[in-house]
Amino acid sequence: MRIGIGTDHVGFAYKKEISDYLKDLGHEVVDYGTYSTERTDYPIWGSKVARELVAGNIERGVLICGTGVGISLSANRFQGVRAVVCSEPYTAKLARAHNNANIIAFGSRVIGIELAKMIVEVFLTTEYEGGRHQQRIDELDDDDFLCGMKE
Ligand code: RB5
Repeated sequence: MRIGIGTDHVGFAYKKEISDYLKDLGHEVVDYGTYSTERTDYPIWGSKVARELVAGNIERGVLICGTGVGISLSANRFQGVRAVVCSEPYTAKLARAHNNANIIAFGSRVIGIELAKMIVEVFLTTEYEGGRHQQRIDELDDDDFLCGMKE
């Protein structure tokens, strides 16, 4: 699978380890930065990965900041992006199976690197179940539904 990874300066330390882990699992990893520990803004990197995902240049994304929150919020501004913050594998599994999440985010200040690897692995190996979940996902991207024009 072709996977994009992006972090801010707080997540930077995890980027290489997660990238190497993904490569060991046989994935292709595209590094969208940041490229140092110099202070930076998480929307730069979250939006970069989200744009690449929407453009079809990557199949999944991995985002890391201090908590995973800011960088996932920036990615979720893009239609078609479903970025989830996970601190344990159960949520990662259900985020794929029920929500067809396409970006996983986590916080380097929140979880350790081994747990992060486990979460990413579950995220990449769990299939979306479809069925009853699809209508709900469609509603997320339906402007009329979100404006209350239809139920
Ligand atoms: C940066 O200090 C920090 O706010 C950022 O890494 C992230 O945790 C934001 O959600």
